[in-house]
Amino acid sequence: MSNLMNLDITQQLEELRREAMASLASATSTEETRAWHGEYLSRKGRLTGILRGLGGVSAEERPRIGKIANEVKTALEEALQARQEELEQAELLAARNKELVDITLPGRPQTPGKLHLSTRALREIEGIFASMGFQVYESPDVETDEYNFQLLNMPEGHPARDMWDTFYTTTPDLLLRTHTSPGQVHAMRQYAPEPIRIVLPGMCYRYEPVTARSESMFYQVEGLAVGKNITFCDLKGTITNYITQMYGEGRRMRFRKSYFPFTEPSVEVDIDCVICNGKGCTVCKYSGWLELMGAGMVHPVVLQYGGYDPTEFSGFAFGMGPDRTSMQKYGIDDIRYFFTNDVRLTERIN
Ligand code: PHE
Repeated sequence: MSNLMNLDITQQLEELRREAMASLASATSTEETRAWHGEYLSRKGRLTGILRGLGGVSAEERPRIGKIANEVKTALEEALQARQEELEQAELLAARNKELVDITLPGRPQTPGKLHLSTRALREIEGIFASMGFQVYESPDVETDEYNFQLLNMPEGHPARDMWDTFYTTTPDLLLRTHTSPGQVHAMRQYAPEPIRIVLPGMCYRYEPVTARSESMFYQVEGLAVGKNITFCDLKGTITNYITQMYGEGRRMRFRKSYFPFTEPSVEVDIDCVICNGKGCTVCKYSGWLELMGAGMVHPVVLQYGGYDPTEFSGFAFGMGPDRTSMQKYGIDDIRYFFTNDVRLTERIN
């Protein structure tokens, strides 16, 4: 009876080991191994249940069976630990894989920054004049009444000042320049009596109602050449070359008589409309022509203010609005787009 019982316990232990090992091998998560531990190895588990039967085993047999029981216990504990580690590794890897970046996915496209239309236009213009030996010269946005008007042959009360109303600062005689022309005198005073060939890009300001065609701020590019024997032919040649480089061969152009206090004679330069090729459209207001710039031979008085002797020196000057030109070139119907900071403007052009 006692032997039978011993055999029974030994068998039960072996049976338990086999069953437990198989069940552990089929566990698929650490969660399941914890349940497994509860079933087989915990204080209320099946191994303890079997060992309770040891009480009925004879004193001689007890150590042997106790040893087997211990072996089974150790074996199960070791197996549990090994399986748990295995499953932990797998779970960790699975969690990591879930978060992993899939490098085969296409990336989010980066939109490269682009230059503002005005900047592009200025650089293009500067490049063309550089090819004719003109250097870039810059002068301040905040000017004195003297530079903006008086030294350009518009003394106080001169009616032509009405064409250039501006914003005044709280300091008397300090104002925002209405054109880049004051830069002419700055350059002349700096370089006289050396010859000059410069272009002068910069922001200008006018006290005018803001409309689709005119903002209270806008760019101008001024040009100035001073030297000996400079004639109106040089002006015409330079402008013609500029127009050819900017708009291509074969553009028709015209020089219309005009008036500026600081040039004599004065002209305005037009080209045939780049949108309709002179046929007439909304951009050229059905005239077939686009106004490009004001220009003329530097007035002797201005040369003198600049430090040149007008009996020895002569020069030509011109001034254009590149924003207006870009609008015409790209069919932009409202100058206010230049200041709205809307990327669609640059997207549309580049
Ligand atoms: N400064 C003039 C304007 O703003 C343009 C101009 C420049 C005309 C140089 C002649 C010579 O309208």
